[in-house]
Amino acid sequence: MSKDAYTLTGPDGKSTTLPVHKGTLGPDVIDIGKLYKEQGVFTFDPGYVATGSCKSDITFIDGDEGVLLYRGIPIEQLAQNSNFIEVAYLLLYGELPNKPQLDAFDTSIRTHTMLNEGMLRFFNGFRYDAHPMAMLSAVVGSMSAYYHDTMDVNDPGTHDIFTHRILAKLPTIAAAAHKLTAGQPFVYPRNDLNYTENLLHMFFAVPAETYQINKIAAQALDLLFILHADHEQNCSTSTVRMAGSSGANPYSAIAAGIAALWGPAHGGANEAVLRMLEEIGDARNIPKFVARAKDKSDSFRLMGFGHRVYKNFDPRATIIREMCHKVLAQMGRTDTPMFDLALALEEIALKDEYFIEKNLYPNVDFYSGIIYKALGIPTSMFTVMFAIGRTVGWVAHWREMITDPALRISRPRQLYTGPVQRNYVHLNKR
Ligand code: ACO
Repeated sequence: MSKDAYTLTGPDGKSTTLPVHKGTLGPDVIDIGKLYKEQGVFTFDPGYVATGSCKSDITFIDGDEGVLLYRGIPIEQLAQNSNFIEVAYLLLYGELPNKPQLDAFDTSIRTHTMLNEGMLRFFNGFRYDAHPMAMLSAVVGSMSAYYHDTMDVNDPGTHDIFTHRILAKLPTIAAAAHKLTAGQPFVYPRNDLNYTENLLHMFFAVPAETYQINKIAAQALDLLFILHADHEQNCSTSTVRMAGSSGANPYSAIAAGIAALWGPAHGGANEAVLRMLEEIGDARNIPKFVARAKDKSDSFRLMGFGHRVYKNFDPRATIIREMCHKVLAQMGRTDTPMFDLALALEEIALKDEYFIEKNLYPNVDFYSGIIYKALGIPTSMFTVMFAIGRTVGWVAHWREMITDPALRISRPRQLYTGPVQRNYVHLNKR
């Protein structure tokens, strides 16, 4: 039975009543805000395993049941019926748009796709082998230099232009990073194309020939962007909120989110999955790698398996798995050894006692990399694709946070375990 309050009694017998907040869905939340003031203690929860950092209306996850809702709407319904631009509107503004709202939003995104030419010149400064996530983070951060004057975090009137610019320009920046790596000339955006078609055009068109947009590729990317669009208080979103809570320029806050996403425990997992499959090489080697993943003295983990929140299945993985088959079939790549290897690994791991006991299931990134690879997107660009989809989630959270009247700068406390106070020792005495 859920309670309205918890009472915590300290060793000195003094009691503090901790109110309980009830969300519309999900477990109740104990408000510990006055604990330090009244009891002189902090709580300790590294990795925020049982700690809510904010209130949010945007996304709900039930990890035990494998439920993911954007503004209340199940991800399966959005994947089936919607498109990325409509989902972006839903996440940002809270409701599905009507036709004029959707058209206006879509037009605005399509007409902010170009980069300032100065920004393009940044790419000349990167080495040809610079990781695209490093370039993405750096160039998005530099947008704060271009748009600082027009951005007042305290003026909600400036929030839409920031939102539309960042959504529109991220694919252009990503494509520029790809072209640098590929040694090809930068391709300017085409505003007559939709979001994912334009991305494919900027990625794959070359001046020497006409580029035909592959409709299945555009559809697959659109689906991937929907699935990646938001995931409540994950590492990168929490980073954006934390950086933004100081009132920092939001382009810089998004750049911080990109940096957080890059790590292999988060968005970098899609790249890591492909590299792991390459390393495994052959289905006969799978038992050896599964054994390594189970060995506590070995740091190797099965990339694309496990999730902090989903302990049953990742609903995004179920949707994407189907798309994975469709893409491979329609692009004539049914005999992809990589996909066969992935399926064999999935099967073996799902039957393994260790993975069952620890509730380790394939997550969304187990499959996304295989799709990207089938579309011809280089492995080092996989996490960049994730970032393009996730940007709308970051922006939605930044907007929610910055307009919350109860906003306070994020400032966790710590359990100090260093030396107690001691005196400075002069160099000649050390
Ligand atoms: N392979 C082998 N063992 C694993 C794996 C894995 N992929 N994931 C977790 N475990 C084990 C851990 O060793 C630990 O075992 P123990 O209890 O005996 O110590 C137990 O399962 C719990 O793992 P934690 O690391 O404590 O779980 P946490 O919630 O902190 O981490 C994470 C979740 C980071 C996703 C983890 O499962 C992982 O590293 N997975 C591989 C990377 C990956 O796929 N990341 C993508 C996440 S989805 C996304 O960001 C879109």
